[in-house]
Amino acid sequence: TESKLQLVHTHIRPFPDFPKKGILFRDICPILKDPAALTAVIDLFEEHVRKNHKQVDLIVGLDARGFLFGPLLAQRLGVGFVLVRKKGKLPGTTVSVAYDLEYGKAEAEIQEDAVAPGQKVLLIDDLLATGGTLYAACQLMKKQQAEVLGCMVVIELKELNGTDKLKPSQCFLPNSVLRTTTSQTA
Ligand code: PRP
Repeated sequence: TESKLQLVHTHIRPFPDFPKKGILFRDICPILKDPAALTAVIDLFEEHVRKNHKQVDLIVGLDARGFLFGPLLAQRLGVGFVLVRKKGKLPGTTVSVAYDLEYGKAEAEIQEDAVAPGQKVLLIDDLLATGGTLYAACQLMKKQQAEVLGCMVVIELKELNGTDKLKPSQCFLPNSVLRTTTSQTA
């Protein structure tokens, strides 16, 4: 597990001042470009889920980079994948929640019939910053009466205390897979 974590960490590229001054952007493209690193990150997620959750009905991925990891994990687990999108992208009847971003404002949306009441779901995204995005996605799941088992991210920016934001809704698993600090460069 340690070597897999290391492999994934070395495939995260920091870009200072993107998309705005003062933001240290974490680029996960190198993970996707390297099959070994991509396998490692999905292995870590799969191990985490199998160890902590007996039953998972759906993996719910967040727009846009949650879509890169979520379906791969869902396939490994033999469960379905659902999309939480930015507003206006999904057809049919939708449910939405507004939220604040690390840099800006947005609205998260799902199709009303994406999740059935009582379904056990795990949320996945590339990165946890302030927690606003995952919090909104958790709210969406609650609106649909799904049971949020937890949230998973490749990267957690610890200094932003995103886990605190998620705690009140009791939907965050503290042992999310990969953690980093904003000062860490890999
Ligand atoms: C980034 C990231 C997370 C979110 C985390 O997405 O991929 O989804 O910000 O920030 P938070 O914890 O402060 O809410 P972004 O909004 O840049 O959208 P994108 O994935 O479509 O580029």
